Amino acid sequence: MGIYLDNAATTALSPTVLEAMMPYLTENFFNPSSVYSGAKAAKAAITRARDTIAGHLGVKSHEIYFTSGGSEADNWALKSVLTGTRRHVLTTPIEHEAVLKTAEFLRMQGVEVDVIRVDGDGVVDVEDFKAKLRDDTALVSVMYANNELGTVEPIEAIGTILKDRDCYFHVDAVQALGSMVIDLSKLPVDMMSFSAHKIHGPKGIGALFIRDGVGINPLIHGGQQERERRAGTENVASIVGFAKAFDEARAHMEDNVKKVAAMREMMLTRLLKIPGVHFNGSVSHHLPGIINVSIEGVDSTMLLMKLDMKGVWASSGSACTSGSIYPSHVLKAIGLSDELAKNSLRISINHMNTPQQIQQASDIIIESIKELR
Ligand SMILES: Cc1ncc(COP(=O)(O)O)c(C=O)c1O
Repeated sequence: MGIYLDNAATTALSPTVLEAMMPYLTENFFNPSSVYSGAKAAKAAITRARDTIAGHLGVKSHEIYFTSGGSEADNWALKSVLTGTRRHVLTTPIEHEAVLKTAEFLRMQGVEVDVIRVDGDGVVDVEDFKAKLRDDTALVSVMYANNELGTVEPIEAIGTILKDRDCYFHVDAVQALGSMVIDLSKLPVDMMSFSAHKIHGPKGIGALFIRDGVGINPLIHGGQQERERRAGTENVASIVGFAKAFDEARAHMEDNVKKVAAMREMMLTRLLKIPGVHFNGSVSHHLPGIINVSIEGVDSTMLLMKLDMKGVWASSGSACTSGSIYPSHVLKAIGLSDELAKNSLRISINHMNTPQQIQQASDIIIESIKELR
């Protein structure tokens, strides 16, 4: 097993989460909508999971709607609130593709989409947001924390401005979950997207929080599940796993954050000592475990291949399509040149890593940079 430093992409399934899921993958395979006792037990497990998740978020259970993950939750929030004549949407240039490509789709349907500026650290410019907000703005979508930079956004400030306006506020909190306390009884947010596989839960399950009173159409039509707002036989085992993963993340959050932040600091200090290594992101508003750097003269694909051969698994912001490397839209949005954007390395640490791994991985990264230069 190599040293896994790509926890922003996905996390290992927790053994106790798997254990909690197992009965619903084996003996209790029943459809929760059926009437016999086994099916009722499956339905009860969904109810308990929904209550657990709602409890951790400070919302009512019926405001949690299970989806197939963060992407579906983002799609749903953006596509399904636009009715009537108010057809202006505001978002940011650093959102996940699940928001950005959906916004692009809306644009093709005739919706006006404006993009709020971010500064060089990747922090949303609240003044620019205020300037671009219009009376006919129906929806604002801003992520809680960015998946490439780890930058945490001024969600509360934006939500407070929107509070008394007839405009919905959606937040993609996929990366924030597990690293920050999210108290929706206080946060002025109408909809929030979550995904289980970033917090040691299973892949293919997530949720959209929809506050009471938000008018939203179903994205997936069919049966009466999820209070007739999201059709499809429930993914019982994954729903149970999501709640268990959230329980564990919440119970150990303070300790984990401390541990992860110390490891991040250890790695970052060493990387920034190398000449020509530039930090990308915010020094004051960031998630505990994400590091993003650009390394002058070192192509990230070459570096990642070298690291892989040496047993270190990390990531870069670049997307590789048919052999061409496109610089990350996030790094371009914070003003990086194509060159520096293509020379980026994202390391995402979590509590399953150890300080020894971080020391060893730092040595390997430093050595690999030297070899590639
Ligand atoms: C910020 C953000 N939003 C949405 C998603 C998509 O979530 P999922 O993989 O559950 O569809 C991700 C996953 O990478 C993400 O980082």
